[in-house]
Amino acid sequence: MARSSRGMYCWAISTLLCLLILSLVSPSAAVKHHDFKRCDQSGFCKRNRALADSMIQAGSPDTSPYNLDAPSIKFKNGVLEASIIKSIPNTVPVRLPLTVTFLDRGNVRVTVDEEKRQKGDIELRHDSPVRKERYNEAGAWALTGAGLQSQKSAVLARASKGVSEVSWGPDGRFKAVIRHAPFGVEFYTGEEKQVAFNGRGFLNVEHWRPKIDRPAVDENSTEQQTVEPVEDESTWWEETFGGNTDSKPKGPESVALDITFPGYGHVYGLAEHAGPLSLKQTRGGEGNYDQPYRMYNSDIFEYELDSPMTLYGSIPFLQAHKKDSTVGVFWLNAAETWVDITKARRDTNPLTLGLSGGVVDTQTHWMSESGLLDIFVMLGPTPQHLAKSYGELTGYTQLPATFAMAYHQCRWNYVSDEDVKDVDRKFDKYNIPYDVIWLDIEYTDDKQYFTWDALNFPDPISMEKQLDESERKLVVIIDPHIKNKGGYSVGEELKSKGLAVKNKENNIFEGWCWPGSSNWIDAFNPAARTWWKSLFSFDKFKGTMQNVWLWNDMNEPSVFNGPEITMPRDNIHHGNWEHRDLHNINGMTFHNATYHALLERKKGDVRRPFVLTRSFYAGSQRSAAMWTGDNQANWEHLAASIPMILNQGVSGFPFAGADVGGFFGNPSKDLQTRWYQAGAFYPFFRGHAHIDTRRREPYMLGEPYTGIMTQALRLRYALLPAWYTAFHESSTEGYPIVRSQYYVHPKDEKGYEIDDQFYLGSTGLLVKPVTKEGADSVDIYLSDEENYFDYFDYTVYKGGLKTQRIAAPLEKLPILMQGGHIIPRKDRPRKSSGLMKWDPYTLVVVLSKTGEAKGTIYVDDGETFGYQQGAYVHRALTFADNRLTSSNLGTKGSKTASYLKTIQEVTVEKIIVVNAPDAWATQSEVLVTDGQSQGAKAELTYHAAVGGKAAWATVRRPDVQIGADWSVAFGDTLRDKTDL
Ligand SMILES: *[C@@H]1O[C@H](CO)[C@@H](O)[C@H](O)[C@H]1NC(C)=O
Ligand SMILES: *[C@@H]1O[C@H](CO)[C@@H](O)[C@H](O)[C@H]1NC(C)=O
Repeated sequence: MARSSRGMYCWAISTLLCLLILSLVSPSAAVKHHDFKRCDQSGFCKRNRALADSMIQAGSPDTSPYNLDAPSIKFKNGVLEASIIKSIPNTVPVRLPLTVTFLDRGNVRVTVDEEKRQKGDIELRHDSPVRKERYNEAGAWALTGAGLQSQKSAVLARASKGVSEVSWGPDGRFKAVIRHAPFGVEFYTGEEKQVAFNGRGFLNVEHWRPKIDRPAVDENSTEQQTVEPVEDESTWWEETFGGNTDSKPKGPESVALDITFPGYGHVYGLAEHAGPLSLKQTRGGEGNYDQPYRMYNSDIFEYELDSPMTLYGSIPFLQAHKKDSTVGVFWLNAAETWVDITKARRDTNPLTLGLSGGVVDTQTHWMSESGLLDIFVMLGPTPQHLAKSYGELTGYTQLPATFAMAYHQCRWNYVSDEDVKDVDRKFDKYNIPYDVIWLDIEYTDDKQYFTWDALNFPDPISMEKQLDESERKLVVIIDPHIKNKGGYSVGEELKSKGLAVKNKENNIFEGWCWPGSSNWIDAFNPAARTWWKSLFSFDKFKGTMQNVWLWNDMNEPSVFNGPEITMPRDNIHHGNWEHRDLHNINGMTFHNATYHALLERKKGDVRRPFVLTRSFYAGSQRSAAMWTGDNQANWEHLAASIPMILNQGVSGFPFAGADVGGFFGNPSKDLQTRWYQAGAFYPFFRGHAHIDTRRREPYMLGEPYTGIMTQALRLRYALLPAWYTAFHESSTEGYPIVRSQYYVHPKDEKGYEIDDQFYLGSTGLLVKPVTKEGADSVDIYLSDEENYFDYFDYTVYKGGLKTQRIAAPLEKLPILMQGGHIIPRKDRPRKSSGLMKWDPYTLVVVLSKTGEAKGTIYVDDGETFGYQQGAYVHRALTFADNRLTSSNLGTKGSKTASYLKTIQEVTVEKIIVVNAPDAWATQSEVLVTDGQSQGAKAELTYHAAVGGKAAWATVRRPDVQIGADWSVAFGDTLRDKTDL
């Protein structure tokens, strides 16, 4: 939750005056552009774009001053080391150590450093105490350590004629061609070029140089000026924006590179931005942006849609996609980063003179303010390969507790413990399920985290106990800004122990945020993380018990009076690194510190922690969920949430949601209802609202809205077994939880720009939320040849590159089931997911055209880490030859047997077969075989096809265990048997 535009002015003035102003001014509904930089207001972005322009003008990369020093090349055990020499007139050549590491899975890592800075052989200005090296610790935070071993069998195949060629990967399938002058690398799969570095000559490593104070130019002199600065030096040594001056003690140090994807027409990724999934061009022209995609984690107030402006989190991972291949680039840099994207049509046949199509190359230009050039290239060749590779490097999604996938009810603010109890009772009164209720900042005593407002929350434990009766949870907010006030022990300890971020003079940094004057915990410091842990123990954070979890907001960090609403770049962190170097990682170190604190809250009682974060970086998926920040209650924001969430999946951080209902403003009843339908298919599903909005808990709206929203919530709860299985798949394979069209149908070019419909995991459920006011139908695109069936009434829709119109009156969320899948559900309505734990399952078998179906189900206790010792059920469900079978996919561990015992009473109570064959019309029984019985009978009911609806059948009470082997024989199989 962000500052309100009005609240901004309130710290300085008296409360009374403030209240007066609050009641007079109405909120503006626009992002404050002047608070945030454009490329031409960011020194290094402007310089690098200018370099790119001059290279484009030159028409060839040959003037690039970077050459590989061939005699320096060493190649051993899959690692190539060498020096790149940057040669510019009148300057000592600059040595840039290069390391190219050839990895498994067809990945490769290219790192470029700067020798002079590496050796500390530079002078800092302003007596700054900061480190002299380029920041080289981004990997220490973002990477897990897996996937980094070099492939020792990689071969330096050719080293001649100005080129070094390395082959690696399975059967030497991949090839890197390193050009020496100018330096550049081309990556191939077989003979096909996939990725090219510095093919356009935009490589730039701003080397260290001393500041030379030039005499002022005498404008009246008639003599020719001898020293003409060739480059624009105006932002090398100091940079001022919005009244804040950045002292830049290390001078200019940006790194930049052009990366081209030949033949790739679409690129995805670069979370977080509010725009289409397929990224747009950024250098102007009809329908394009004129600014690069920016990544500089920021608290953007009332962000605008369809924009490359930065948002709260950054994941510098990009996928390029074409019909038969997907490749990726992970730009491991934590400083401010801009990425320009252009597309160029290239004629493949020079004789056709541009008359026949040709192919599109996507050209990207990456620019970071500081740090190393450190890039992973992944040669795929499918989106699934990339998900796996990227997940291996940066970690897979944490498998959350079940409640975290259920519905969360939030607002700024539930004002007292009685208010919370009342909302809790109302949900029950209206029979609406929910799992978690949230407290925003007002629960604290004067915004001092780890305390309670004694007047309004006199008895938090009794509130938490009431929630616990229905296995519900409480989430409270704790932010990284700590109130700077005498007598507040947390604030005093932060300072006295030296655990806060420092300013450029190396004193404790002080700025403004919710509590007024504040200091910021420096979670890069291991001592700070240890201290943070100590604050969460139940005896320290009084008023909390086991069902309390955490929300970390404002961790970009948001600093109300700082440059671009964040910290000065020349602030200093642990290890004497400047804030500029690690800005984009800051939020992750904080939410990760909270995660680890919760893990150790109570010895011997380890449950999977839940932490929601607003700011994030590559690797955040290991310890948090995210939401898309402060959106608005309008239809456009509802629509925009879908590509944003899909892009989180592409970017390896799929546990994502948007504030349901919209944060700012009051949604109409129709909008809120439609938003609950869409939200029921967000991986993270939370209703939230700004402090100035009207109450909007689902029961507040009245009929028919309350009933429709309740149906959406019940649908989410019924499908929790499918969600849990999808989360599990994500936590082991890196796949998105909700998947876009190109991801599921990578060969279908018609789907590459579709970003308003999506699949839930591998279930074949295809969802198309209604995001237009008054719409009573949607058009849904069906790529593959299978039939699709309406989720609710089994109406058949033919697939095969077809767009189908589906009626969607307000009460209906368009969901289709793709033929060939088996979907697990739990259909008994309960108050919370915890109360569903022992409920029986329903399996929905959706037969393909050939009468088959497949699915998986993953089950564990939903709260502990016991699954890591085998306490889980993972099964393949298969329908073939008229027989549905369950077979084991899991491996055994020390806790497998005892876990299986706990769930032996959990059974399948119903099987629904959609698209059931006609031959079953005469059947009334199926034969069930499991550990207990051979051929026990269960009742089959057949419903013939009517109108456009498919035939379907139900099996009542087969009563087979969810954790055991079994099979159910239908129709013909049965007749064959009885005939015998
Ligand atoms: C240049 O000459 C003008 C006119 O004589 C004078 O006003 C100005 O101060 C001179 N500038 C410098 C830098 O000497
Ligand atoms: C997360 O916290 C753990 C425990 O303090 C630490 O070892 C790890 O480096 C941290 N990772 C990140 C990304 O902050």
